[in-house]
Amino acid sequence: MHQQTFTSQTDFITAALSEVKKSISAAEETCFIALSGGQTPLPVYAALNPEDVTRAEFFLADERCMPLDDKDSNYRAIREVLPEEAILQPIDTALPPAEAALAYSQEIDVVPNSRFDLIILGLGQDGHTASLFPNDVTAHESLGTVIPTLNPSAPHPPVRERVTLTFNTILKAKKLLLLISGAEKAAAVEELVHGSKTPLEFPAKRLLGHPQLKIHFLKK
Ligand code: 6PG
Repeated sequence: MHQQTFTSQTDFITAALSEVKKSISAAEETCFIALSGGQTPLPVYAALNPEDVTRAEFFLADERCMPLDDKDSNYRAIREVLPEEAILQPIDTALPPAEAALAYSQEIDVVPNSRFDLIILGLGQDGHTASLFPNDVTAHESLGTVIPTLNPSAPHPPVRERVTLTFNTILKAKKLLLLISGAEKAAAVEELVHGSKTPLEFPAKRLLGHPQLKIHFLKK
């Protein structure tokens, strides 16, 4: 695990962008990248250039089960900032969550052995990452590729209903980049790295065993 702390948003974006570009350069053909939702990574996605994305194909690490043009849709938020040349595979949220998850796992069949070159993830204050939430044993133990989950702290559907890559898929990736920002996340970062909660209680801890995990924390 490699952890870096930043106090400058510019340095945070530059460092994350460097990791994305290194993965794209290292890929023999198409670089398959899965992108987390949330606010933190959006400036990094926005900083990609058209020439950076021509050899990449982007997928979603997770999605909220709502129309793709909804204000809370991860697809919409990411599509709006990625270069228009970028290929971004949406999750078919018009389907019921379980069917959407199955359909997306079939989309991911284009990724050799479902092994992404890079997966960019975020961290919730409760320790969730992607849409893998605390105390969800089924999700935690899934050997599938993409599954439906429920966000227990969401106030109401549809932000509650999710589709997400599983840890089975996430931990296969060649490289993981965990992007965290905000002083309010400091306690979550401390728990992640030094705390006593179990991975079931604090799911992002499952990432710590990955040999190519990089954690970038912007303490703004
Ligand atoms: C989502 C994200 C989620 C996010 C964390 C951190 O759909 O909400 O996938 O896992 O990465 O909640 O979000 P921020 O980066 O906005 O703090």
